[in-house]
Amino acid sequence: MGYKIKVLLFLLVVTAMGVLLRSEYTNLPQLIHQSIWCCFSKDNLVFIRRVGPFLSANINISEDAFTWWKNIQEEKNDFTYYKATVKKLFKIFPPVPTFGKSSTGRTKTCAVVGNSVNLKGSGYGPLIDLNDAIIRMNYAQIRGYEADVGTKTTHHVMYPESAVNLDGATHLLLLPFKIQDLEWLIQAFTTGFYGKSYAPLKSKIRANKDLVMVISPAFMWYVHEIWLQNKRGYPSTGFMTLVLALHLCDQVNVFGFGADSDGNWSHYFEVLRNKRLKTGLHPGRDQYDLIQFLAVRKAIKFYKGV
Ligand code: C5P
Repeated sequence: MGYKIKVLLFLLVVTAMGVLLRSEYTNLPQLIHQSIWCCFSKDNLVFIRRVGPFLSANINISEDAFTWWKNIQEEKNDFTYYKATVKKLFKIFPPVPTFGKSSTGRTKTCAVVGNSVNLKGSGYGPLIDLNDAIIRMNYAQIRGYEADVGTKTTHHVMYPESAVNLDGATHLLLLPFKIQDLEWLIQAFTTGFYGKSYAPLKSKIRANKDLVMVISPAFMWYVHEIWLQNKRGYPSTGFMTLVLALHLCDQVNVFGFGADSDGNWSHYFEVLRNKRLKTGLHPGRDQYDLIQFLAVRKAIKFYKGV
């Protein structure tokens, strides 16, 4: 083959690859790519470590992170009040939270199980149960859905308004959106909580206090800013949990993510009542695109359901 033809062929292949990649990711801004590449490159592991996923007794968040966080649910109290409340947390809960069983806190395989209706009829149960850590969230249900969602839970992510009782072996991961959520955690394990919120709250919770961890507001900000490029609203419970798993697990298997055919975040365990729910206050489309992108890059395994 002549030299000119070889060059021509090479240029053709490069152009075709460029077109393919562009069409696959056109709705993801260039910046997202750069940030995601950053997060998997060796150098930026330092950067990742700087944003610890959990609050701990010895590490404070920055006031900038607090300022972002306090706007999510219009927090009225200041940073000093926040810090004083966090201090109280560690009089009750483990001062240095560990996610997994190993000394490093890392876990081999993790299943992140969202609550999408696409789990219904999927038969993913046995596949989910194979993971070392199985992370569920909010009102996730098991009884009656075992074939599709599995039988085990090792970690359960919740906020006060979505709290459920847990067995003594399951880690409770609190996702706080306001200072009251931290106060709720303390009081739900001690005196009982009697304050009010936008939804009814459990006054007491049944769970193992030695397995409680609180997701850091700084981590939530990092997911919003770096992963979602400050997109409208704030990241969903499920998406924050997925990024958390990427930080803590060697292999992340993702189940139960994706809107129904009307674009609503329907659950596998109930009939949707609000037909105009869409993806709530979260950038659902961007999150879904990013999940697919991570799957293509083999950073996660994404089980899309039915
Ligand atoms: O609705 P809920 O917040 O309890 O669901 C947990 C998570 O699962 C959500 O935060 C969202 O990330 C994901 N989800 C989804 N598609 C649905 C329902 C939930 O991606 N249809």
